[in-house]
Amino acid sequence: MGQNSQDSFYITTPIYYVNAEPHIGHAYTTIVADVIARFYRLSGFETFFLTGTDEHGNKVVEAAEKSGETVKAYVDRISKIFQETWPKINIRNDYFIRTTDKNHQDTVSEILSKVYAKGDIYFSEYEGKYCIGCERFYTDTELLQGKCPIHLTEPKIISEENYFFRMSNYQEWLIDYINRHPDFIRPERYRNEVIAFLREPLEDLCISRPKRRLSWGIPLPFDDNYVTYVWFDALINYISAIGYPDGDLFKKFWPVAQHIIAKDILKPHGIFWPCMLKAAGIEPYQHLNVHGYWNVNMGKMSKSLGNIVKPMDLATKYGVDAFRYFLLRDMVFGLDSDFTEESLVKRFNADLANDLGNLVSRSMNMVVKYFDGKLQSPSTFKEEDILLQDASYKVIEEYKDMMKKFTFHKALIVVWALIGKANKYIDTMKPWALATQDQERLNTVLNTITEVIKIVSVLLWPFMPHTAEKIQHQLGLGIVGVKLPLNSLKKWGKVKRVRPISKAPPLFPRVKPKMEEKMKEEPGLVSLEDFQRLDIRVGAIKEAETIPGSKKLLKLVVDIGEKRVIVAGMAAYYQTNELINKQVIVIANLVPVRLMGVESKGMILAVEDEEGVYLLKPDKESKPGSRIR
Ligand code: MSP
Repeated sequence: MGQNSQDSFYITTPIYYVNAEPHIGHAYTTIVADVIARFYRLSGFETFFLTGTDEHGNKVVEAAEKSGETVKAYVDRISKIFQETWPKINIRNDYFIRTTDKNHQDTVSEILSKVYAKGDIYFSEYEGKYCIGCERFYTDTELLQGKCPIHLTEPKIISEENYFFRMSNYQEWLIDYINRHPDFIRPERYRNEVIAFLREPLEDLCISRPKRRLSWGIPLPFDDNYVTYVWFDALINYISAIGYPDGDLFKKFWPVAQHIIAKDILKPHGIFWPCMLKAAGIEPYQHLNVHGYWNVNMGKMSKSLGNIVKPMDLATKYGVDAFRYFLLRDMVFGLDSDFTEESLVKRFNADLANDLGNLVSRSMNMVVKYFDGKLQSPSTFKEEDILLQDASYKVIEEYKDMMKKFTFHKALIVVWALIGKANKYIDTMKPWALATQDQERLNTVLNTITEVIKIVSVLLWPFMPHTAEKIQHQLGLGIVGVKLPLNSLKKWGKVKRVRPISKAPPLFPRVKPKMEEKMKEEPGLVSLEDFQRLDIRVGAIKEAETIPGSKKLLKLVVDIGEKRVIVAGMAAYYQTNELINKQVIVIANLVPVRLMGVESKGMILAVEDEEGVYLLKPDKESKPGSRIR
């Protein structure tokens, strides 16, 4: 395969269903793909970045019917919204694929014919439980109390004659392949999840839908009464978009293909897709990179809850770069994350306005003030300067390593550590004092700082392209953005400027937190974040005894997932023996206090009215340690 794929990089996002408009979850995956694509471009790789829309299947037809449009008009309209949204948040994909494209449909037919000719597709009757939301059948063990684990709805029982792909033929091969390629699916937790699926016998995959039930799809090339199952159709986009089987792009990029998805579609990507590729005689992709879910205010985002976060609302309010930075900094790739606007504002003010914004503005101001924007090449460096240079070079290497591993939050943490060092260097060097004493030293110090700022700007370019380029222009650099690559950074003090360094308005003017404003207006209010800091759990009282010398207090040992001693003022209302095994609600992270010589670590919640005090308990017996939200 591809002779020159060593310096090539191919990244894809899932192709999104057109049954909904883009939200923060779609935006996250697509921004991650954009960041990693920009990183590889900056590293000198030839890069191809693909995204698109998935336009067949029941779900899309249902959405079109609800909107009162023809299916074609509906998919065109929503696909266009996706296509128009991405450039607005600075996404630079190389191609946008739609599964209704003729070229894609032809490729799907071609693969189907190939797999059919090989004998890996057969006709049979099937009855199964189907979730329309997921567009797939579920086995009983996969269902949660009979419901789809993702949509929490009951699947439909569907029984009909259909075509099946002999996925079971490839089970042993796939297990072996994953064992021999430990980072095929990453992070590891998702690889383990796929391995766990594969411990059970794989069922063959139903890959058709009778036209009388669903006509909106790609016809099967060997039976015109059927259309292709939407997943068998959609997964093929990753190769149809780059010209499978003979296109140059396919030859160059397929061997280095990496997919990004969230955990919701792990099974189709981790199991169906490699088996389909194997059956069609195509090499597997290189990596499947799986991330977690964005929840909103601790819950799932959903239309019915009305808590869908729209990317453009945030990008308009806080700026595209701040939005991109926040998403990549706040989520640990692979784990779930909770989105709140308050945390976005906090990061905006602390990391962007304060750390980065101040470093840039005070440095540029000093260069303009003391040297009219024109620095000379420094002749001698002191130890402190060299330490900062060493630290910067080390950060470049750490950053590259973390980016390649998709640990974006760590890459940003090391960049911010460097920003912190640069700010500290300014505080210790005190250029304002040097200005009256030693011009030559002042020139060297300001050179050192601007050198670090240049490095920071390049490292940040994949995340915040606008901001990085603004900084590079302010630094007077003639070459900016993607043209200023990572491997050009280790030339300390040899910056070529085409213009003097200039001042500019603050990059990130501080945002007044909405919450702070509201809380000033109504001092009694508690922020959601304050509430979320409380660790409230279900407990079960295991031991209870009186405390000598106290009429009110009891010493309790409560199981809250671990055993805790809690002192409670219940002696007047409960006998010790009545309390054993009672379920209670406990605040587990109160600062410990000592009461009558006993250290109490937590508080038990109770109601008080004119008749007395009663313990609160959950409506249904719950596992001790369960969290209350
Ligand atoms: N059409 C299929 C994918 C076919 S790929 C060959 C599909 N579409 S989808 O519109 O439902 O998109 C699912 C993807 O959107 C997730 O895998 C993830 O990339 C992104 N996200 C959707 N909701 C999300 C969150 N709440 N959080 C993070 N990402 C999420 O599945």
